[in-house]
Amino acid sequence: MKVLSFGSLNIDYVYNVPHFIVRGETLAAKSLDTYSGGKGLNQSVALARAGLEVFHAGAVGEGAKFLLDELESAGVNTDFVAKLENIRTGHTIIQRSDDGDNCIILYGGANQSITREQINKTLENFSSGDALVIQNEINEIEYLSKCAKEKNMIVAFNPSPMDSSIIPVFNNADYILLNEIEAGQFLNQDITSKTPEYIAGELCKKLPDSKIVLTLGVNGSIYKDKNITCRQDAIRVKAVDTTAAGDTFTGFFLSGIFEGRSPEWAMKFAANASAIAVTRPGAAPSIPSRNEVLEKL
Ligand code: RIB
Repeated sequence: MKVLSFGSLNIDYVYNVPHFIVRGETLAAKSLDTYSGGKGLNQSVALARAGLEVFHAGAVGEGAKFLLDELESAGVNTDFVAKLENIRTGHTIIQRSDDGDNCIILYGGANQSITREQINKTLENFSSGDALVIQNEINEIEYLSKCAKEKNMIVAFNPSPMDSSIIPVFNNADYILLNEIEAGQFLNQDITSKTPEYIAGELCKKLPDSKIVLTLGVNGSIYKDKNITCRQDAIRVKAVDTTAAGDTFTGFFLSGIFEGRSPEWAMKFAANASAIAVTRPGAAPSIPSRNEVLEKL
């Protein structure tokens, strides 16, 4: 099976701050680090480090060589990444607090220049039984997911960042990995006092043919489909940077599923991978290898 990860590539500018900035404040950062990131790139790296054959598609502009190097050194094929002129590469401004939490401002840049022609040409190289992995940091994901579904590819969707324009994409997805805030927005319900089992149940009612993974931060995660429900606890570690924890979870969970493991095993694999990632700084550079995760298991 080949995995096409079609998504964002970002330069992450990480400002280490004493607290998150508030309205009207000028705040001195303690330091600045630059990392390769973007939900698409991070998930490609996680899928490849977990052991799959991965092709990344997307678009970059200026100053993106180190992003392509990061993908290639993880073993990801970058032939389908468009190298555009006169446009900025996608980037983020991330505030990172001492306890590893973050706030992110996202600038799409080249990530928002995906064309239907690029999608059609890329999909010519994939067929029934291959997988497409997408998030919401590039344009045209509704068209992309529809074309992949028509080719009988397995579509995995991480609806992040969530907005109402991507609701139709949920119907094209076989696997949906989302957090509680995204679930509440999709369900259009106040779910603050609801249990994870209730939320996962509501998602399955609306999407009976999909397999749902609801991530719950320090409370772990829950998997639900027509036949199975299973819970996975979060693995307790001292976090230094939670950026890309979700992307690591997504990549390792899907890799477990695509290699034929049970949802329970895949959730455990993913939880251990993301527990390692949060103990290291940065997005893509923090993602562990398959062997590191297997040793922890
Ligand atoms: O999920 C983490 C990623 O979100 C960061 O690497 C940043 O680029 C944003 O896209």
